Amino acid sequence: MKILQLATALLCSSAAMAHYTLDYPTSRGFSDDNEPQAPCGGFNSAANRTQFPLTKGFLQIKSGHVSADIKVNVVYGNNPTAADFTSAGATPASSLSIKNPGDSCLPLDLSTFKGAADNTNATIQIIYNGGDSPLYQCADVILVSSAPTFDTSKCKNVGAAPSATSPGGTAPTNAGSLVSMNGVKTAAAVLILAVVFAL
Ligand SMILES: *[C@@H]1O[C@H](CO)[C@@H](O)[C@H](O)[C@H]1NC(C)=O
Ligand SMILES: *[C@@H]1O[C@H](CO)[C@@H](O)[C@H](O)[C@H]1NC(C)=O
Repeated sequence: MKILQLATALLCSSAAMAHYTLDYPTSRGFSDDNEPQAPCGGFNSAANRTQFPLTKGFLQIKSGHVSADIKVNVVYGNNPTAADFTSAGATPASSLSIKNPGDSCLPLDLSTFKGAADNTNATIQIIYNGGDSPLYQCADVILVSSAPTFDTSKCKNVGAAPSATSPGGTAPTNAGSLVSMNGVKTAAAVLILAVVFAL
């Protein structure tokens, strides 16, 4: 009987392990069953925002798969729609692969990323493919030049650091398509503000 319970527990935990969690910055939410749902694993509204630095940011995940290919998209605006994420998918902010289960720290440096500016609301989407179907998580953030509340101690790798595949966190050449309508408005507002201050 004990053995049966143990076997059941192991089976259940290995099913859960076949997913991943976004541990930092705070995820919109995690649901084992809904994680395959685009764009954000079943959580369709923006939640609390974490300050996210434009330079040397990272995403901390816990992977249930032995290896995975990961794309990271950044969509600007207060509450991007599913369509905004789809257009972002063509030009990821970062593409990485991991080769071990457990804790991985995915670097995300947006300092040269088109449209990423101080005080911009954005949603960071992770599309994780561990060999079955893509799994989605999102974090709502405010991009800032200085992020005193961003906890750099959360970055941990149990194995080798994730390796970048292209474009590896640099600005994609066709980054224009990344910018959602909200983002365009935000960028334009910042520009107008800059002009006002210049006068
Ligand atoms: C969001 O932030 C508010 C205020 O700090 C807090 O009360 C609330 O619990 C947070 N919500 C989540 C889902 O963390
Ligand atoms: C960014 O989002 C917060 C809520 O999370 C909101 O209060 C704030 O007005 C937004 N900023 C802009 C520029 O829209």
